[in-house]
Amino acid sequence: MRFDVVTLFPGIFSGYLQQSILNKAIQRGILSVHLHDLRNWSHDKHRSVDDRPYGGGPGMVIRVEPVVECVEEIQASGEEPGRLVLLSPQGKRLDQSLTADLSTASRLVLICGRYEGFDQRVLDILEPEEISIGDYVLNGGEVAAMVIIDSVLRLVPGVLGDERSSQEDSFSQQHGMLEFSQYTRPRVYRGREVPEILLTGDHQAIARWRQEDSYRRTRTKRQDLLPDPRRRPPPPETT
Ligand code: ADE
Repeated sequence: MRFDVVTLFPGIFSGYLQQSILNKAIQRGILSVHLHDLRNWSHDKHRSVDDRPYGGGPGMVIRVEPVVECVEEIQASGEEPGRLVLLSPQGKRLDQSLTADLSTASRLVLICGRYEGFDQRVLDILEPEEISIGDYVLNGGEVAAMVIIDSVLRLVPGVLGDERSSQEDSFSQQHGMLEFSQYTRPRVYRGREVPEILLTGDHQAIARWRQEDSYRRTRTKRQDLLPDPRRRPPPPETT
């Protein structure tokens, strides 16, 4: 899978790209991440890509020409144009099912915004899919692009050592529930013991316990994820 990232701050990605899962997948040729500095498509000698908004107001707006020309050039290179995504708090909210859907693409082109946003004609001309990582405003789309890359790559076959680990992730499980509790050595720490069942080697009993634990956890922490709405508590009374 190939990711192309359009950004004004390519340096933000360098530490992240060196983390081991990603780095190994890149070394093995399963993934590639290409960073494109939007300033390389600036039309002036100061390499600026933003300007004051028509109609007045605070802040700066990213100009239409650099973005459109950069994205067109990127999409024309490579085997296919790929799926075009613009990170924005106004976009569709990212969740595990959108992540799974994105992971089926062989190429994702991610555009990171900054400042007050883009000239509207960027959206009108390129018609990207707008995606938000949550209802809060970040300084720019870079962190959101890393969230997309990080969650999508877990689902790309061969990226994780063990295929089961992404299937058992919270939200990825069959019932969309939270992942069960995990334990490792020591068996007892400050009087807290690992549940006996996990030491028995009885795979069926362990699987059953994990399913129940998953359900218990979901009911305690995220009732909204439970499949049967009748199990949810009634809404608080309004007076
Ligand atoms: N850019 C700024 N805020 C964002 C958000 N919440 N999601 C995606 N991109 C953003």
